Amino acid sequence: MAGGAIVSTGSTKDYPGKLTAFVFFTCVVAATGGLIFGYDIGISGGVTSMDSFLKKFFPTVYRQEEEDKSTNQYCKFDSQVLQLFTSSLYLAALIASFFASVVTRVFGRKWSMFGGGITFLVGAALNGFAKNVLMLILGRILLGIGVGFANQSVPVYLSEMAPARLRGMLNIGFQLMITIGILAANLINYGTVKIKDGWGWRVSLALAAVPAGIITLGSLFLPDTPNSLIERGYDEKAKNMLRRIRGVDDIHEEYTDLVAASEESKLVEHPWRNIIQRKYRAQLTMAILIPFFQQLTGINVIMFYAPVLFKTIGFGSDASLMSSVITGLVNVFATLVSIFTVDKLGRRKLFLQGGSQMLVCQIIVGTLIAIKFGTSGVASLSKTYAAFVVLFICIYVAGFAWSWGPLGWLVPSEIFPLEIRSAGQSINVSVNMLFTFIIAQAFLTMLCHMKFGLFYFFGGWVVIMTTFIALFLPETKNVPIEEMILVWKAHWFWGKFIADEDIHVGNIEMAGGKSKAGSV
Ligand code: BGC
Repeated sequence: MAGGAIVSTGSTKDYPGKLTAFVFFTCVVAATGGLIFGYDIGISGGVTSMDSFLKKFFPTVYRQEEEDKSTNQYCKFDSQVLQLFTSSLYLAALIASFFASVVTRVFGRKWSMFGGGITFLVGAALNGFAKNVLMLILGRILLGIGVGFANQSVPVYLSEMAPARLRGMLNIGFQLMITIGILAANLINYGTVKIKDGWGWRVSLALAAVPAGIITLGSLFLPDTPNSLIERGYDEKAKNMLRRIRGVDDIHEEYTDLVAASEESKLVEHPWRNIIQRKYRAQLTMAILIPFFQQLTGINVIMFYAPVLFKTIGFGSDASLMSSVITGLVNVFATLVSIFTVDKLGRRKLFLQGGSQMLVCQIIVGTLIAIKFGTSGVASLSKTYAAFVVLFICIYVAGFAWSWGPLGWLVPSEIFPLEIRSAGQSINVSVNMLFTFIIAQAFLTMLCHMKFGLFYFFGGWVVIMTTFIALFLPETKNVPIEEMILVWKAHWFWGKFIADEDIHVGNIEMAGGKSKAGSV
């Protein structure tokens, strides 16, 4: 497709340094911030499919489910209040990410992670002891604030710590932790649903304290990134940190580039006003469209509502939860594929391959459901037929897990220059949360009205987003983060928005539209 989308800046550097054990461990600890997000995604679907939970907090939904047995399967669980339980968290995360942007910039990435962990901890306690819907929703809001802070700071932290060559791999640690969180939640639900007396949901919700404890404690031991240290005026500390994380003494070139980036960013008083400038049009577009598209893949239909969806196609309670464990496992293992390929194959290839795979599966799943349920929503599936549906859902999840899942967090975290990095990441997080919220809130209603067509609907979006990537996303693998502007400048479309004078990257100046490495 449009060959111009593939660029080579020809001038990106490879700073000296190796993957030190120190940087590896700090990245693993920081990535655990993904656990709280993942745990939450996985836990709500299972809990809302537990009868004891529904009876206590949403008795009308429970009655509707009981009475509806033989009628339209598509509309069985359509309830705004029940959806609000799942979605309220994302609304809170959306708002929190704006506050988190200030904390991340002014106090450093680590305190943003710490704040996220603590708030999440309180939310988990409120939920575990919930006596009424109010406590439940309040707890969800606190969990949401925690997620907003963690998702704001963790991806940026990872991208700043990592050497450029391995940035993809280390950053995807975040997505790996998200998937592990989801799987852990699926497994826990599978166990707690069996607790007699029906208080299993309390255990499920309260156990959110475990991932929260991990990131809260872990963040206390994390050093701040060199970029953030320079940004806050700790130049000597930044130098030492750079030596430590790169494992070499010769950090001069990288340090000079970081300082230059920081000087430039200090000229900017209003990152929010700044980000709307013409020269940042590419980054702004990506910060909005990548998270938007990530959610429009429809992945969270599976992640939140897999147990409900599987119940809809006729699985029993136990089999539904088991099937979510299976999709959870596929999600974790397929993420490993992207970890090992993203810095070699690059981001674009994964996006394009994963998108095509998801599309094919969406068409197949939609059609399998259409054949049996038609528009009336009444049917019962044989075991083999249902197994086929689950199989294609798994292949779809795998496609997502090595493309839009990790790259939806990686790409936005690596494309912003320092002066707009925190603001850009806030836009990314809040757009992601907004559409996670909309899908969580609307899915059951959409299923009721669009029926099997819902799978085609998301498939249509996958066509649009895959074409968008093919045309508009340049390859960013191995490019040092502070040199990313050269990639945009070399792009057939985005290059037009960037004037030669806009480029001041370390010792690279633009001459006649071509970048040249030279002396300052
Ligand atoms: C997305 C989540 C999704 C998860 C699934 C993440 O990258 O942001 O919305 O549930 O991947 O693994």
